Amino acid sequence: MNCCVVGLQWGDEGKGKVVDILAEKAEIVVRYGGGANAGHTVIIGDQRFALHLMPSGAVRPGTVCVIANGVVVDPEVLLTEIDGLAEKGISMDGRLLISENAHMVLDYHKQEDQLREAALGRQKIGTTARGIGPCYADKIGRSYALRMADLRDPAALREKLERIVAYKNKLFGALYDAAPMDAGRLFDTCRRWSDRLGGHIVNTTEYLYAALDNRKNILFEGAQGALLDLDHGTFPYVTSSNCSALGLGSGCGVPSKWVDTFLGIVKAYATRVGAGPFPTEQDNATGDWIRQRGHEFGTTTGRPRRCGWFDAVAVAYTARLGGVDQIGMMHLDTLAGRDELKICRAYRLDGRETSFFPCDGEQLGRVECIYETVPGWSEDLSQVRRYADLPETVRHYLATVQRYVGVPITMVGVGPKRDQIIYRD
Ligand code: IMP
Repeated sequence: MNCCVVGLQWGDEGKGKVVDILAEKAEIVVRYGGGANAGHTVIIGDQRFALHLMPSGAVRPGTVCVIANGVVVDPEVLLTEIDGLAEKGISMDGRLLISENAHMVLDYHKQEDQLREAALGRQKIGTTARGIGPCYADKIGRSYALRMADLRDPAALREKLERIVAYKNKLFGALYDAAPMDAGRLFDTCRRWSDRLGGHIVNTTEYLYAALDNRKNILFEGAQGALLDLDHGTFPYVTSSNCSALGLGSGCGVPSKWVDTFLGIVKAYATRVGAGPFPTEQDNATGDWIRQRGHEFGTTTGRPRRCGWFDAVAVAYTARLGGVDQIGMMHLDTLAGRDELKICRAYRLDGRETSFFPCDGEQLGRVECIYETVPGWSEDLSQVRRYADLPETVRHYLATVQRYVGVPITMVGVGPKRDQIIYRD
């Protein structure tokens, strides 16, 4: 069975935990998009792993981890993660494969991300400052891009770096009055990366095709959430990759027909980090309550997340976009302790009721939410392990979401630990 796990909201849905659970049965886990902007938290016993680039399957020592061509790789972050895992007794030797075609995030990408955001002031996107947008922009622009394969040929790399740095220095100097960068220093850094990562750089598409031919169990791990998809999300307040399930084919060379199940992950409510429209946002005491209960602070940046009610209009859209067969709802335990909960079932836009999600930022900023109010619950769900043992009010909440989203909820998370999960059927 091959399965693809994708986020259906604005990221941080709890995919890391689900991938970790499913990775028990997977032989290979593949990251196919995004970069160190992602933050996947996995908790095993009393150990907490916060991974950014490494697939969450890394914490399962028997699993091969593939960082495919669609990922933008920051080698410095990757090395820190490899070392962090090694300190906890988990080795990546012989089980980490990095695509030679994956593009490389360098210091100047991070610098540009920060300079541009600062220059934009109130118009900024609120990026994670990890250089993601500038790196993907270089990929699309082609002439100034560097891929992991470039680490193999030092002479050619030095030449490319000198050309790229000369160009960036002119650009950053003129636009932002930035101090010039030194190509030689960047080259030395690349040599260090090459020494440590060189043995992991391969053609991952070839590897995956052989794995498919040999009927290996492969788990594809999406990063971020579909509402941040460059083409289908809330542009321009999105990330710079196709982080919905639609990015799978281009991101690793495997067409979706090879995937048996697309599992969409949602939280029982909604969160968003950074700027952009968020119709169900509760910028009030309710939002504060969710943030505190759910520990809603960014894994990558530590920023407080914006919080709000579950938006079934948005999730029905992203479930369709991703061809999602099943949904896993995480953080259900967080919502305990309220008399009533709200689920957004439709929008009113220009006086007309609609259940279709307009991802255009301007329109989305104007919609009015139409909520269904359902009874809340006070029971602590963290110890519940069987669907039938969930209180009636909780099952009603799940059934209501499912009715509006139109996809079965087959997994429910009731806490951050591996065993705090309930399977339905
Ligand atoms: P970037 O990907 O760093 O360029 O950021 C673009 C937008 O995507 C910002 O609003 C970020 O907060 C958001 N974003 C990027 N990665 C994640 C993630 O893993 N979780 C949640 N939001 C993210």
